Amino acid sequence: MTYRTHHCHALRSEHAGQSATLCGWVASRRDHGGLIFIDLRDREGITQVVFRPEENPEAAAKSHALRSEDVIRVAGQVAPRLAGTENARLATGAIELVATSLEILNSAEVLPFQLDDKVSNEDLRLTYRYLDLRRESMSRNLRLRHRVVKTMRDVMDSEGFLEIETPILSKSTPEGARDFLVPSRLTPGSFYALPQAPQQYKQLLMVAGVEKYFQIARCFRDEDLRADRQPEFTQLDVEASFVTQDDILALIEKLLATVFREARAIDIPVPFPRLTHREAMNRFGSDKPDTRFGMELTDLGDIFRESQFKVFRAALDNGGVVKAINAKGLAGITTGQIENLTELAKQAGAKGLAFIKVENGEWKSPIVKFFTDAEKTALAERLSITEGDLILFGADTWETACETLGRVRLRVAEILDLLKDSNALNFLWVVDFPLLAWSEEEQKWNAVHHPFTRPCAEDIALLEAGEFGKVRAVAYDVVLNGVEIGGGSLRIHESDLQSRMFSVLGIDESKQQLLFGHILKAFQFGAPPHGGIALGLDRLVMLIAGEDSIRDVIAFPKNNRGVEMMTNSPAEADFKQLRELSIQSTAKKPA
Ligand code: AMO
Ligand code: AMP
Repeated sequence: MTYRTHHCHALRSEHAGQSATLCGWVASRRDHGGLIFIDLRDREGITQVVFRPEENPEAAAKSHALRSEDVIRVAGQVAPRLAGTENARLATGAIELVATSLEILNSAEVLPFQLDDKVSNEDLRLTYRYLDLRRESMSRNLRLRHRVVKTMRDVMDSEGFLEIETPILSKSTPEGARDFLVPSRLTPGSFYALPQAPQQYKQLLMVAGVEKYFQIARCFRDEDLRADRQPEFTQLDVEASFVTQDDILALIEKLLATVFREARAIDIPVPFPRLTHREAMNRFGSDKPDTRFGMELTDLGDIFRESQFKVFRAALDNGGVVKAINAKGLAGITTGQIENLTELAKQAGAKGLAFIKVENGEWKSPIVKFFTDAEKTALAERLSITEGDLILFGADTWETACETLGRVRLRVAEILDLLKDSNALNFLWVVDFPLLAWSEEEQKWNAVHHPFTRPCAEDIALLEAGEFGKVRAVAYDVVLNGVEIGGGSLRIHESDLQSRMFSVLGIDESKQQLLFGHILKAFQFGAPPHGGIALGLDRLVMLIAGEDSIRDVIAFPKNNRGVEMMTNSPAEADFKQLRELSIQSTAKKPA
């Protein structure tokens, strides 16, 4: 026996007169005075089936019992639909299957939600994910993801890269998030860490002489969740030896161009524009700039050098900056909206958000009274100020002013709905990241990318001189429409430089041996210069699919509380299991 002769998408006018057997789910059922029509759905599409009581009374009688989402097998003859009843919106809309026999393989209870509705309760969708995935949009996303991964494997293979698996039960590697730990039964009191990325293993593969490695790698990071973050996610992880930054950027451009051609039939222009980190921050206030709209940050330091407005003057006197954006058309903003923007600015570290509304030819603002005529003229010219504009100012350290206006810029774009008609795909590289960043909270230097990232050769002297904040890294991020879809760097391959780097990060020699002895040792046995990158697969597929959340391109994601709703994990472990692992929970049971 074979279950079926065709898929539901396959039958067309040219099959009229032929016998066919279909299997699938009852998408809908309509009763037209004893004549039963169903839309039968399988993975490939929909075919209309009709049960005619006068021709096939037995099948027709059975069909009365059919309910939505029953799984059936139905045999019959393909026939053209009656003139005037064709459905032009359906690929199979010119025909129907006239049923001669019906078998109900599994009947369905009433579903917790309708598959054709937009269900806003995401937890409900995730609890019944196997139903949610029956929706056309979700099934399309799963296929798209498959296509993207398949294309990536093909490109990497044709470029000579080997796909190599690295351990999931592994050792903590610093990528800036918390680790997930797995207790070891065989070594009581010891823990594996799930990899935040295969970073050290892939570098050790370079020492092993592999030269070109890639992996579709699952990564685990215990961090706060957002629409574009999951505690476990997938990277296309890449590492290569004897390569320059240009080699890696060109490889990734080629890969992304091929992926977009295969998955979306779109030709994306390469090479991508490159912005230095400094320029990205200066112009867009972000290290992942969204360049689909303008509203760039403009420097006003020269204009307000002698300002009577104490906020501007103080910022400049302290070596900071005064910058502004012109939110064209937003002068009508409400006081409430201004307050919200100010709150956003304060979250970014600003002390306030000075503004000017240009309404009825007048500059409405609590601060213009401090401006001289010359300052006003220069400002109007610099920002091309016209009726209807809203000017928003940041006066602070360079970092805070850029960061603040960068966030305000994105929010303003949302308020103005600037991207509603955009189907732009703005790829770019951000290069020349700083190597280190000072953490006020921890009172120490941290690696901006990770501790294995190479300082720029020209800046090694600065590192030696202790000018840590000025050292640039050979690190790069690839950004699409304001989303960081990947990041990487050239690496340190010298044991002494790596050890120096760890010291700058506050890891003393004995701790270095304990945590990273293996890599420091490996670099003493002939380590080739190497570098790499990792692309966030989920984020990339999300953008290709036009979804707003990476959860929509992951089959079984966790919700924003880190819970996988369908199986309800994480769950408590029983006492016996914990005892075997030499573990005791100190968690207080919620009342
Ligand atoms: P990085 O930490 O920048 O680099 O990660 C690379 C890319 O992975 C994606 N990503 C995530 N996607 C979903 N959920 C998350 N929680 C999440 N975190 C990161 C992003 C990001 O750009 N080992 C280095 C790469 C290297 O140096 O080669 C690394 O992991 O798209
Ligand atoms: P103040 O003189 O503190 O009343 O501030 C006057 C205006 O400047 C208010 O609109 C504040 O929100 C704004 N402001 C204060 N500090 C800053 C700052 N660092 N950058 C930009 N605007 C600020």
